[in-house]
Amino acid sequence: MSSAEEILNEIETIQKEALRAIEGAGSKEELEKLRVSYLGRKARLTFILRSLKDLSPEDRRLVGSRANEVKAKLEELLRSKEEELSKKHAREVIDFSLPGKKFPRGREHPLQKLIEEISYFFVGLGYEVVSGPEAELDYYNFTALNIPPYHPARSMHDTFYLTPETLFELDLSEAELREATRNIALLRTHTSPVQIRTMLRKKPPVFIIAPGKCYRKDIPDATHSPVFHQIEGLAVAEGITFADLKGTLESFLKYLFGDETKVQFRASYFPFTEPSAEVDVSCIICGGRGCRVCKDSGWLEVLGAGMVHPAVLEEVGYDSEKYTGFAFGMGVERLAMLKYRIPDIRLFLENNIQFLEQF
Ligand code: PHE
Repeated sequence: MSSAEEILNEIETIQKEALRAIEGAGSKEELEKLRVSYLGRKARLTFILRSLKDLSPEDRRLVGSRANEVKAKLEELLRSKEEELSKKHAREVIDFSLPGKKFPRGREHPLQKLIEEISYFFVGLGYEVVSGPEAELDYYNFTALNIPPYHPARSMHDTFYLTPETLFELDLSEAELREATRNIALLRTHTSPVQIRTMLRKKPPVFIIAPGKCYRKDIPDATHSPVFHQIEGLAVAEGITFADLKGTLESFLKYLFGDETKVQFRASYFPFTEPSAEVDVSCIICGGRGCRVCKDSGWLEVLGAGMVHPAVLEEVGYDSEKYTGFAFGMGVERLAMLKYRIPDIRLFLENNIQFLEQF
């Protein structure tokens, strides 16, 4: 049986040895082994504490308090060492110099992007951007635009009707038909009905553009889609002339396709404008020299336009003696295909990420 002095010496030796070992531990596993060997069930210090009862009361107090002090000290050191090793581990596992993970970012559809770009130009001129319904009444899509029932221009628009067309088969007078067609619903075939809706709700002057979807019964191919976008433009005020139309569209098309772009107006026909024009730009692929895209003509048709027909102004209650105006309409897909050199209109509808990510 060792004396109290011997035991106390031994405790000091254990402490010294344990402190050095814990201090030098390089991993949590190593630290756990040290905990077991210095504080575990079979550790020498544990044995000393358990054998206190064999000592005299005086020795028991001396040895007991020292042994408990050392035990507490080792426990504290084990705890702080473990914390230190955890931090070191985190530093090693998390490389703070790595770039962060990028969230996949959505972006504007190329058609929406182009609509924004075009709107920006006209807003700069003081135009307001407005919209109208895609499910439209025959009256706004045709009749009010000087396209009455049986007008040949109707057959140019292969219309999706939403109510039965049987009305057209009844033997009605023109006035009766006109009344009846007010209630026929269809998918608008162009954005021109927004001209009518705008003028019915506002007095002149009116300067608006109206972007939106249109529908026609077309068989899809590289240049046709049953759903497509147009941007309508309408300017009505006192003293507006064809020169205003030319100036506006010429600066717009130079804005869109570049300053070197040439613009040409060709006489054409729309029931709701008189005179009417189709507007061409010098081919943006070959610069006008002639290529496959412009079919060797050097020109590309991009717009329909004209002076608002007096019958249209009268239909919405505008005095056609006092007010004049111009209107224009353009196909957004066609403009985008030319501007971004996209070979197939169906790409706009397919949601192919690789295609969309280019814009
Ligand atoms: N609405 C016509 C179309 O779809 C385009 C147009 C609009 C023409 C305005 C003249 C004036 O073809």
